Amino acid sequence: MADKIVFFALVALAEISGLTAVVLIGLFGGQLNKEPGFSWDGSLKTFNYHPLLMVIAFIFLQGNGAIAYRVISATGLQVTRATAKLIHGVFQTSAFLIATVGLVATFKFHETQGWADMYHPHSWVGITAFSLYGLQLLVGFLFLAFPKFGSEALRSRVLSLHVSSGRLIFIMMIGSALMGMSESSIYDIVHPEKFPPEKFPQAVVVSNTFCLCLLLFAATIVSILWNPTFGPKRQKEDSLELITSSQRS
Ligand code: HEM
Ligand code: HEM
Repeated sequence: MADKIVFFALVALAEISGLTAVVLIGLFGGQLNKEPGFSWDGSLKTFNYHPLLMVIAFIFLQGNGAIAYRVISATGLQVTRATAKLIHGVFQTSAFLIATVGLVATFKFHETQGWADMYHPHSWVGITAFSLYGLQLLVGFLFLAFPKFGSEALRSRVLSLHVSSGRLIFIMMIGSALMGMSESSIYDIVHPEKFPPEKFPQAVVVSNTFCLCLLLFAATIVSILWNPTFGPKRQKEDSLELITSSQRS
């Protein structure tokens, strides 16, 4: 019982910090940076889609997709294994599609401005994380969804790898987003030398608070995923099958 209270408190904290991060990054691009607003015209307003969509997709949806099995298991709902997979798959697939639009936005912005692509450390870390995410999605569909390829033993190995690589990719996305925000705050916010030491522009407060919300979101998701007592109950270690609530009771 105490475990369940801690679990649901962590989930609530994850939702609050994750949604706050989404609102703050929307506020940053929509109202506070150098050229606020959203438009698909190749200006900074096109770039503004990038942080917003990446955070919705690769932070909020990916994090929620990762904990979905544990949330389903903890609620004790009579959800079949196939439905749990569908929910997890929908979160991860929609994240990939939304993030692809977010990535296209920054390339379109660079192309319109005649700027070089892939110039900063954030770009290299970000594209690596994005590629690994695409690979994880492909392998997930091939081996863990339908149709199933390979033997039961191979799929069990893939599953173990999938769980650890999924956690790693989530951490990489948090790192990418923090690096991206640092870069944006140098480019898109008025510079510190223009302000008296006691004055913090609103954009600075919002972008820095956004980073703290990301850290809190990461901490709660990691605490949920790394704690074996919150894990979905499998029939045996590394088995693809879960003990459903009906079997347990
Ligand atoms: C969370 C996942 C994210 C990923 C995977 C990611 C990935 C990328 C990639 C691959 C690029 C290079 C695009 C190009 O060179 O045309 C890029 C550019 C950029 N990203 Fe992100 N990004 C993420 C989040 C963010 C966030 C949250 C921010 C800011 C708040 C941000 C700010 C930037 C900036 C400022 C650039 C452009 C750099 C420049 O103009 O040279 N990114 N991002
Ligand atoms: C890039 C996309 C994906 C990411 C980042 C991802 C990430 C993860 C993570 C972090 C876990 C561990 C969850 C936990 O410990 O409770 C997991 C488990 C799992 N994922 Fe994915 N996943 C992705 C796509 C898919 C797809 C497309 C499928 C196929 C439907 C899939 C099937 C599974 C299964 C069967 C589990 C095991 C759940 C269990 O513990 O029983 N994943 N995934």
